[in-house]
Amino acid sequence: MKQLKTYRLWLAALAVFIVAGATGAWMRFGLLYGFPWGLQFTNIRHAHSHLMYFGWVTPALMALIVGWLPRLTGRPFTPRQLAQFRANIIATLLLSLLAYAAFLPYGYSLATFGSVRLPVAVIAASLNIVAWYWFIWLYWRATRGVERERPLHLWDAALGFMILASMGAWSVAVISRLGIQDPFWSVAATHLFLDTFSDGWFVLAVLGLAYAANPQAAKHPWAVRGESWLIMGLPVLFLLSVPFNMMPLPIWLIGAAGGVLVALGLGGNLIALWSARPSGWGVPLFFLGLKALATLAVTIPAVTQWATIAQLRVSYLHWLLLGFVTLSLTVAAERLWGETAVPKRHWLTASVIAVILSLLLLTSLWPAAWSGRWVRVTAAWVALGPVLAAMGVVGLSFSRRKASTHPTK
Ligand code: HEM
Repeated sequence: MKQLKTYRLWLAALAVFIVAGATGAWMRFGLLYGFPWGLQFTNIRHAHSHLMYFGWVTPALMALIVGWLPRLTGRPFTPRQLAQFRANIIATLLLSLLAYAAFLPYGYSLATFGSVRLPVAVIAASLNIVAWYWFIWLYWRATRGVERERPLHLWDAALGFMILASMGAWSVAVISRLGIQDPFWSVAATHLFLDTFSDGWFVLAVLGLAYAANPQAAKHPWAVRGESWLIMGLPVLFLLSVPFNMMPLPIWLIGAAGGVLVALGLGGNLIALWSARPSGWGVPLFFLGLKALATLAVTIPAVTQWATIAQLRVSYLHWLLLGFVTLSLTVAAERLWGETAVPKRHWLTASVIAVILSLLLLTSLWPAAWSGRWVRVTAAWVALGPVLAAMGVVGLSFSRRKASTHPTK
């Protein structure tokens, strides 16, 4: 019965994925046919990315971590602890939807209410951070004094990076309040938030889930080395996303060293996990490998410049966020709650691969002579794939659970 409740939260996060994914597809169609009600592409893009970060990956990770904890700590939750985690994850989901509703019409601009002008989306996004701190507190209390095996080690670090990322988010607000003009500080603070949240919190937490599901890989020497390199490189990785010409060379070199360490760290974990031949993890690990190579490549300024001109940024982001993080979450859910948590998972995997391939059509890697309007029409229709596949997963999962009489699921 207790399992059922965290499992339902997983399905709720998947429902949010459907909304955020539909928003992504809507952007593609909007670029072809226009946006209704005066909505702006940039604001919809912020609404999409924030909902994916705050309402899909973050609560899904929280539900999966909570689902694994009793097995790893050897301590079953008390009903009170379980109720607190549940309230926390529900709050995280609701606050993400609040931020989405604010980003869609206003983006980062000020909304006017009578004589008052407020950055409503920034306020809503900041409230999300409070829910994350609450999760960290609950996690800390649930794992206090427990011997740290690899998954717990990685989750401790992941939550540490969540705190570091939130410092970036607070700094953005402070910098704009103090009216600091040098663009380096606002760009650096934004990337401290975005990159540390995705490469730190998401990646380390997902690796923790992968080792929880494949404990035989956790003792591999490359897993140990890989974790140390990641933890050393991640705090400065965001510097690589700041344009090269905005930074003094020594600062850039620190970022590049961080990039090399992170690439090696990801490679080490890839080797360790791969050595266990984990069933279902092949595609996510392939995208992890791609991300590791790309991180290594962007430590060379000429490559970064080429990738910017080739418009590879959106592809690069989705290799990690959709290819590795999202697909890993579905495999981890299947390992924890069984096949009914993600029925027909292969459809979701296939549709994600199709979206990632379709993004390449929009880059200059695709020959201009073969391009045209059809490329954007194709990308728009293909973007609907993961949304439909996720709707199928949620629908089937609900109906199978209802039919099932298994009391522990
Ligand atoms: C369901 C599949 C998805 C679709 C169809 C989709 C679609 C899109 C589109 C159309 C854009 C704008 C591209 C542009 O600027 O030309 C975008 C940007 C972005 N997406 Fe996704 N996406 C998906 C999944 C995800 C996931 C799972 C995440 C994160 C967990 C994510 C995070 C982002 C981010 C961070 C950006 C860049 C935002 C910015 O530049 O401000 N997306 N996506």
